Amino acid sequence: MTDFAIEVLDDKAALIDRSTALTVEWIDRALAVQPTCSIALSGGSTPRPLYAALGDRDLPWDRLHVFWGDERYVPADHPDSNQRMAREAWLDRVPLPPENLHPMPTDGGDPAADANRYARHLQAAFGLADGEFPALDINLLGLGDDGHTASLFPHTDALAVRDRAVAVGNKDGQPRLTLTVPVLARSARTMFLVAGRNKRDALRQVFDPADDATLDSTYPARLVRPAGELRWLLDREAGEPFAGGSG
Ligand code: 6PG
Repeated sequence: MTDFAIEVLDDKAALIDRSTALTVEWIDRALAVQPTCSIALSGGSTPRPLYAALGDRDLPWDRLHVFWGDERYVPADHPDSNQRMAREAWLDRVPLPPENLHPMPTDGGDPAADANRYARHLQAAFGLADGEFPALDINLLGLGDDGHTASLFPHTDALAVRDRAVAVGNKDGQPRLTLTVPVLARSARTMFLVAGRNKRDALRQVFDPADDATLDSTYPARLVRPAGELRWLLDREAGEPFAGGSG
């Protein structure tokens, strides 16, 4: 397991304030040493207020490139779309150049083909050779109460994909597109945002230091072992038992 830091914030509002400040700090640190910053967004409900708060900041939008860590295989205007959620909360409210927006395609009628489309898009966007994986500057992730992250769900085929940057995730038979473990491993800075008492059991399993492949497959967030910085930002409801922890 990668070394990681755990921060437990008093409540959801404090969690959002802290994650906003840390995201802005990480963007600033990336742009201090390079011309652009790449950030991958997670979906779900937890990060929405973070995205809204980022929409109220004055950031160097022309130097920020926004990707997604996963996407439900629905049209971009569908209520379940992660792209729609982030655009409504943040991205459509700021002068981000359209070419800096890199949503996962879900309009090809074939999840596997669209996963490959996004992998090719990443290869071009990051200027990669064949077989190279993108190194995101910032990766924002959530945690399901079943231990999934992005769209890496327990005991699914996507967990084992090591030769492609994007795979088809499977949530109860519903296809999703997801960045794969090798890509999540290369992020320079990874932040998990977790709120709610219902996440405690998953957190306990994810933080278990055992070297256990079955546990990894059952709680896929354990597979996120980035070489770079890894921060877990938890509200007290989720994180009380882990306050002051690290790994
Ligand atoms: C998604 C997310 C997913 C999410 C977790 C937690 O597409 O839903 O990427 O991985 O982060 O399910 O969701 P909540 O924040 O709503 O608990």
